[in-house]
Amino acid sequence: MSSDNTGRKRFLVTAALPYANGPIHIGHLAGAYLPADLYCRYRRLRGDDVVFICGSDELGVAIMVRARNEGVEPLDIVNRYHPVIKKSFADFGISFDYYGRTTSETHRETSQSFFNKLAEGGNFTLKEEQQLFDPQAGLFLADRFVVGTCPNCGFEEANGDQCERCGTTLSPSDLINPRSTLSDAVPEMRSTTHWYLPLGKFQERLEDWHSGHADWKPNVMGQIRSWLADGLRERAITRDVPWGVPVPRHAADLAGVDANGKVIYVWFDAPIGYISATKEWAEQQGDPDRWKDYWQDSESTLLHFIGKDNIVFHCIMFPAMLMAHGEYILPQNVPANEFLNLEGRKLSTSRGWAVWLHEYLDEFDPDLLRYALAATLPEAKDADFSWKDFQARVNGELADVLGNFVNRTMTFAHRFYSGTVPELSNPSTADADALSELHSFPDRIGNAYDAFRMREAVFETMALARLGNKYFNDTEPWKTRKDNPQACANTVHVSLQICASICVLADPVIPFAAARLRSMLGLSGRVSADGTSASAIHWADASEPLLKAGHPLGEAEILFEKIDDDVIERQIAKLVSRSAEGSSEPALPFEPARDEIEYDDFAKLDLRMGTVIAADRVPKADKLLRLDVDLGYEKRQILSGVAEQMKPEELVGRRVVVVANLKPRRLRGFDSAGMLLMAEDRDGKLCLIESAGEDGAVVR
Ligand code: 2FM
Ligand code: ZN
Repeated sequence: MSSDNTGRKRFLVTAALPYANGPIHIGHLAGAYLPADLYCRYRRLRGDDVVFICGSDELGVAIMVRARNEGVEPLDIVNRYHPVIKKSFADFGISFDYYGRTTSETHRETSQSFFNKLAEGGNFTLKEEQQLFDPQAGLFLADRFVVGTCPNCGFEEANGDQCERCGTTLSPSDLINPRSTLSDAVPEMRSTTHWYLPLGKFQERLEDWHSGHADWKPNVMGQIRSWLADGLRERAITRDVPWGVPVPRHAADLAGVDANGKVIYVWFDAPIGYISATKEWAEQQGDPDRWKDYWQDSESTLLHFIGKDNIVFHCIMFPAMLMAHGEYILPQNVPANEFLNLEGRKLSTSRGWAVWLHEYLDEFDPDLLRYALAATLPEAKDADFSWKDFQARVNGELADVLGNFVNRTMTFAHRFYSGTVPELSNPSTADADALSELHSFPDRIGNAYDAFRMREAVFETMALARLGNKYFNDTEPWKTRKDNPQACANTVHVSLQICASICVLADPVIPFAAARLRSMLGLSGRVSADGTSASAIHWADASEPLLKAGHPLGEAEILFEKIDDDVIERQIAKLVSRSAEGSSEPALPFEPARDEIEYDDFAKLDLRMGTVIAADRVPKADKLLRLDVDLGYEKRQILSGVAEQMKPEELVGRRVVVVANLKPRRLRGFDSAGMLLMAEDRDGKLCLIESAGEDGAVVR
């Protein structure tokens, strides 16, 4: 196992890059992000060197499908969702060291140079073949542009690259009765040339490598074995679509192929996204080469957290790519989870059957869902999330067990010991037993995390609070306070030690509450993160009493409030009504408020009323309209990016607000002198700002 001479181990942990074509829901969290975060937080508390990497998967056909459905550009889609996803992860406490995006320049360069290196090594084959083509849309039907019946399980809505029901990877031509998702047309066959990765060449090396990982989860190994037993086939790794990392010129020249219009397949570039994001992280650290320590040093441990639909890509295809490249380490483990159902039904975003993270966060504390989900993660088989179970976990475990124990302890300490830790003296058997049991918890919980058994780790964490609660009950300090004051002091002392250990050991699951508990206990040493800091409280420290007698405590507060039935019923009703409407997605959050400005900054804007007197399309610019606007004192030509949402004839005669002193620009061969003000809804819909003032009136 990787470690430096201080005993710190080095980890590069990745969580699957989510497609930036919609917000995050609880299924995503349970599959990859929460278990990965639990693991990283635990490892950091152990003092290890952890870099936790993720980012938005912004290329590929899934994004194009969404853009086409809305009549916007793929870039509009990813620019809309990337910030929403990034923020909801941060608000939920997912502690990424870096959250990148695959539209970045670093990612384009990294993917292209990876592709070139594999091409130079003769790792690809080229094939000219007949592929499905949509004559109405004028596009080859890659991946999700085509659906049809899965030849393996008969599912009628299988995508062209993978069947979501049985997990089989497919080629569009494998589908029975294919139809275009762009136009519903029945596709025809046309000839095209593509690069292929012959996975069969890697079969033996992959088998050897997998045989050294018998400790991987059975659900992961099961899928891998069945893939290998079928014999690995070649996979096309380029596409004829207009959105993706372009096939690099060098590789095209080597092959003597015109790569114009061809891009790298998203499942080739996306895992390389882990590398590009690590490079960007290293840049940000001011140490641009540092990414190599994590990706190219055999002393490092690489772990991929994913959902089960991503197993083949992370356990076969990406490792084969890394083997072919030759300069990278291979993952040490890929602890993939199964799927999460919701209220007994398969989660479905298109049927409105999902709990969206940003909506959850508008109403609840992140820790409640972190705990409830972590306790029911689909580790070995599919699991179910229900609002009633959520309520039971919050009320019956977080509030009644953990919160109650902390609250009783703090109340006694403040009421009877002036808010300090009382002395332990002549401990009873019960006191000594509690402390000795406490001693075993860091290992009990840690062993479960080490083995990627997150549910067990969460169960053991709550077991520590149960121990505390039971000990408090059994020793009855409310009685001993009168007839045996030292016994009462001992109970409060030992209970406070248990609380202190809880604030370390529960930090991975409920980091926000753990921080509150830390300040209640007056623990200044930073729990978590920097393993090198001498003042840090580490995981193993939690096996021994952390608080000295006389230590002053902070103010007490209630850690967890109970959730009333009507709150839960409202959530269930929302779910049911949304699914009855068949609405796919909730409103996005509002854009965050901007930084304050001085009045003088505002006063620099010369805003004027105007009337649109002419409007027409701009040749070869899908988004732009050319407008003539009457400002009363003069007429202006202004180019406005509204063509996808408004027709020229709808604009003529409309009253508008113009930024009149914006420096003129030249766009697509036209001068544009000013800008129209518009309101942009959360889903990108534009509305003009209209008003009654005369043309030329100053808006302020
Ligand atoms: O299934 C998905 O959501 C993919 N976007 C996961 C990509 S993981 C990685 F390889 F980037
Ligand atoms: Zn299938």
